[in-house]
Amino acid sequence: MDRMTAAYDDFAGAYTDENETSLMNAYYERPATLALVGDAAGRRILDAGCGSGPLFAALREKGAVVTGFDQSAAMVEHARRRLGEDADLRVADLAEPLPFADAEFDDVVASLVLHYLRDWAPTLAEFRRVLKPGGRLVVCAWLSREQPNRLEVRHLLEPICREGRLPGMGTREDYEALAAGAGLTLRGFDDLSRQVRRTWSICLRRTLGKLVTDRAFRRLALARTTQNRSFLLSLPRLMIALRTGAMRYGIFVWEKP
Ligand SMILES: C[S@@+](CC[C@H](N)C(=O)[O-])C[C@H]1O[C@@H](n2cnc3c(N)ncnc32)[C@H](O)[C@@H]1O
Repeated sequence: MDRMTAAYDDFAGAYTDENETSLMNAYYERPATLALVGDAAGRRILDAGCGSGPLFAALREKGAVVTGFDQSAAMVEHARRRLGEDADLRVADLAEPLPFADAEFDDVVASLVLHYLRDWAPTLAEFRRVLKPGGRLVVCAWLSREQPNRLEVRHLLEPICREGRLPGMGTREDYEALAAGAGLTLRGFDDLSRQVRRTWSICLRRTLGKLVTDRAFRRLALARTTQNRSFLLSLPRLMIALRTGAMRYGIFVWEKP
């Protein structure tokens, strides 16, 4: 098990609670993704890196037939509790060939997950394979600025990646070039950085409040053994990176021709 999966297994419960109400996830990222998916009724949709399943739930509510998978068994367990025993959920790794047939899905959504991979090219090719012709891939990701300066790399981007267990952070151009290489056609890009930026000071205040009032959260966040303390350290850095433009938050839509 790699360090990132261990981290998600470790804090699956806390992440599920936070993601449920987080301003960024609940008010910007999920609505933006759902709007881009559009009319989902009857569509077969793959939620890649589904976590505890909030997007899966919202898509299912819109009438989609959803399949979800995640590398973390604990996150899948939370998703199962939320979505019920009959939900099509699996434990699988995005870095491996996907356990689905060719042209099985109308849409693939991958929200806040591709940036955990070292190499996205094989995964984008797999997404293309499992999509029907005309099917869409919707990806939300943290992005680095094109050509960040040395200070931004040293004090923001490198520590954020280290603390968040990201192997690196791609730029918009990196994603677009790799997706084009995988045979996907770009249909749109939304930059949500401005909206997301406004939520981080509130997230920081909430987290500090939870540290004071929620004993279980405090124990998990500050325990010597936990791998998650460094996630907390990243919050102020993320705020600065978004404010200065060193980091962006974007949603891509590609189509399989
Ligand atoms: C930030 S969470 C996002 C969860 C969900 N997509 C959402 O928007 O609520 C990232 C998720 O990606 C999963 N993940 C990371 N690397 C993965 C991989 N290689 N294969 C499958 N899932 C992965 C983690 O276990 C975690 O549940």
